[in-house]
Amino acid sequence: MELIEAIKTRRSVRRFDKRPVDDKIVHEIIELGNLAPSAGNLQPRNFIIVKKQEIKEQLAHAALDQRFVAQAPVVVVVCANLKRTAHYGSRGRELYCIQDSAASIENMLLAIVDFGLACCWVGAFDEHAASRVLGLPPHVRPVALLPIGYSEGKAGYASRIPIDELIHYENW
Ligand SMILES: Cc1cc2nc3c(=O)[nH]c(=O)nc-3n(C[C@H](O)[C@H](O)[C@H](O)COP(=O)(O)O)c2cc1C
Repeated sequence: MELIEAIKTRRSVRRFDKRPVDDKIVHEIIELGNLAPSAGNLQPRNFIIVKKQEIKEQLAHAALDQRFVAQAPVVVVVCANLKRTAHYGSRGRELYCIQDSAASIENMLLAIVDFGLACCWVGAFDEHAASRVLGLPPHVRPVALLPIGYSEGKAGYASRIPIDELIHYENW
C-alpha cells in the first residue's frame, strides 16, 4: 500500500471482530513505531503489549469505560520514558518525550492500516489508574492506549476543517 493511501484510508476503529493478531505483526508494528524520529535520537518510549483479558478490562475501565479497549485482541500501551529524555531537562520531560511518543504512535497507526488491521488512538484515560494496572515505574508515563484488531464493519469518515481555514502566511 502506498503511504498516501494509508494516510487517506486510516480511520479510528472502535469495533473489532474476534480474530487474533499475529504476535510477529504486533512486534513489527512496534518496530516501525520506533523508527519515528525522536529528539536527539534518545527514543524515550516504551511499548507494553497487553493480551490478558483481565488487564485489558482494567485498562478499559481506566479509559472511562471505553469498552472497545477490552474488545480488541491486543492493546499496545505507548509510554513516554522521562528518564531517557532527562538530558534535555524540563523541555525533554514535558514536551519532547510526548512528541517522540506521538510520532511513534502515528507511524504505528499507518503500519496497522498497511497490515489490514485497525486501531483507535485512545488518550482519554486515568493515567494513574493505567500506570497502576501495568505496574509502571514513576518515570514511565502512559501516553496512549492502542487497541489493535481486525475491523468489524467499516468505520465512517470524520470530516476535517477546510484546509484554507488552517493555513496562514507570514503576517497572521
Ligand atoms: C490524542 C488523541 C486522543 C484520542 N483519544 C480518544 C479516546 O479516548 N477515545 C476515542 O474513541 N477516540 C480517541 N481519539 C481518536 C479521535 O477521536 C479521532 O482521531 C478523531 O475523531 C478523528 O477521526 P479519525 O481518526 O477516524 O480520522 C483520540 C485521538 C487523539 C489524537
